[in-house]
Amino acid sequence: MESMKIAPSILSADFSRLKDEIQAVEAAGADWLHVDVMDGHFVPNITIGPLVVESIRKVTQIPLDVHLMITDPDKYAPEFIKAGADWVSVHPDTCKKPTATLQQIRRQGAKAAIAVNPDVPIENVESYFADSDMILMMTVFPGFGGQAFIAEVLPKIAQARKIIDQRNLPILIEADGGIKADNIDLVVRTGAEVIVSGSGIFKTPDYVDTIRRMRQAVRQT
Ligand code: DX5
Ligand code: ZN
Repeated sequence: MESMKIAPSILSADFSRLKDEIQAVEAAGADWLHVDVMDGHFVPNITIGPLVVESIRKVTQIPLDVHLMITDPDKYAPEFIKAGADWVSVHPDTCKKPTATLQQIRRQGAKAAIAVNPDVPIENVESYFADSDMILMMTVFPGFGGQAFIAEVLPKIAQARKIIDQRNLPILIEADGGIKADNIDLVVRTGAEVIVSGSGIFKTPDYVDTIRRMRQAVRQT
């Protein structure tokens, strides 16, 4: 798919050289930058806050795709948007009223996405589609980089694709977790168009070559 977007997740970057890492993936052809925000409550890990997003915003031009894995997105989403987030994804089980959270994100000028965990049926989140610019299909359980891709999510991606196409909805499908050059074609062929890859890019020696191989794999499908 020509319109496929690659969003390297900085969770797997070398944080002691974050600016260089970001600029290296941007130069290698990354379309967006995926920023995994974890608070040690919703998931056991703690990662990045608005201050870091503000600094990242200064060193790259590409859209910042901020994935909130935190217990209180209503409180913190505005801070991330102020810091420069272009996209904000939320997990519905962290919001009192997910629709209101999505609407608030949009009102503040960012694009809103609803995240769907591997064990959540599409039917449970369909009511949020109207207020979403993107559906974030988790292909691992949130919490850590470097986990194995859960192939059982693929039929759900196909199901989301069908709904979006049939209703002609202006919504992107993003897939996140365990995606590398050797399985990206499967994920894109199934219907995802924004591909998050952390270890699949940052743990490889040559980002230019990795992103080139990812695009090549997708072109051959
Ligand atoms: C998981 C995160 C992912 C993760 C992807 O909680 O949401 O974005 O960083 O990393 P890889 O590609 O290594 O699975
Ligand atoms: Zn993520």
